[in-house]
Amino acid sequence: MSRAAVLCGLGGSLPERIVSNEELAEQLDTSDRWIRTRTGIGQRHVVAPGQSTSDLAVAAGAQALASARATAGRADDGVDPVDPVDPVDLVVLATSTPDRPCPATAPDVAHRLGLGHVPSFDVSAVCTGFVYALATAASMITAGIAGRALVIGADTFSTILDPADRTTRAIFGDGAGAVVLRAGDSGEPGALLGFDLGSDGSGADLITVRAGGSRQRSVPGPAAEGEEFFTMDGRPVFTRAVLDMSRSSQSLLERVGWSAAEVDKVVAHQANIRILNAVGEQLGLEEKQIVANLDRVGNTVAASIPLALRDAVAGGELQPGHRVLLTGFGGGLTWGSAALVWPELETGRPHR
Ligand code: ACO
Repeated sequence: MSRAAVLCGLGGSLPERIVSNEELAEQLDTSDRWIRTRTGIGQRHVVAPGQSTSDLAVAAGAQALASARATAGRADDGVDPVDPVDPVDLVVLATSTPDRPCPATAPDVAHRLGLGHVPSFDVSAVCTGFVYALATAASMITAGIAGRALVIGADTFSTILDPADRTTRAIFGDGAGAVVLRAGDSGEPGALLGFDLGSDGSGADLITVRAGGSRQRSVPGPAAEGEEFFTMDGRPVFTRAVLDMSRSSQSLLERVGWSAAEVDKVVAHQANIRILNAVGEQLGLEEKQIVANLDRVGNTVAASIPLALRDAVAGGELQPGHRVLLTGFGGGLTWGSAALVWPELETGRPHR
């Protein structure tokens, strides 16, 4: 047994407003049939005017903290977010739609959650952000730098999409998901057993927002029209997503010593149902091993994996003792996987 980070709380938050495929088809040259057959998505949640990534992150974080308190058997009075027994001493927020380019959004989230002067920072790895943030927080716990961490994945891609782009608007939705990690030992259920992470910057242009960074802003004058919007080259991204999530999953499984057949649930980044099925095929998985909630939420970027976990727990699909493989892929390009045995958790009822 060795010191490990143990997952002990789970939460999530979705904005109230739902945009159906039919509603998109009223605005753009698309159809419910195209979106469902090409992506598996039926609807997505979208923030209201004035609502931001931090608002969703605070709601998801509060729910994960309440879940951690309830799991530890302490009453969740919903009043004091700082657990008097085990205070959170680290906040890591994965997002590529921060409230502002500077400063990071995590300190504001920590402050609004009443967590005091804890270290807090953002991690930017687009759709792989949650796995990167989880690895960062887990490493800080195993190194003894932190004892209890709140890890949040939150994004509001609706704020950076081109309103006229039928492809990206069909895919992306807004949301936030969060987990609490505590120091424990590697033999416990919930212990993070290993990670596989990678990147390939030669694909940086495949998933990007061209304007708003130092390269564009160092040139006087406004950005070229449309460059403030998110763009994605869907086909090569599709191919790389399948390849990199499969390879990353395979190499982590070898390290952890599990065969693909021994994994109960694969919770992959919810990009496209055809990508999930292709990864399943590459790994030799059966359909029942693959968790999918993208029909209800679309691709929620950094929130995707924790929201899929939350929905799988709420639906009874994910049970204590299950061997779980998390795997993500996103802009950068980046990819990453994590493995754990699912713990007993009190999660309450997801409010959306
Ligand atoms: N409705 C109708 N037609 C559409 C739509 C739409 N919403 N979107 C695209 N089309 C059209 C295209 O214009 C194209 O038309 P054409 O043949 O006349 O040129 C046709 O459909 C086929 O387009 P493709 O791009 O080849 O469609 P594909 O089947 O590849 O699906 C998609 C596109 C859904 C984007 C897919 O490529 C995909 O899922 N890519 C990966 C996305 C992903 O994994 N992202 C993860 C990382 S994202 C991140 O990190 C932020």
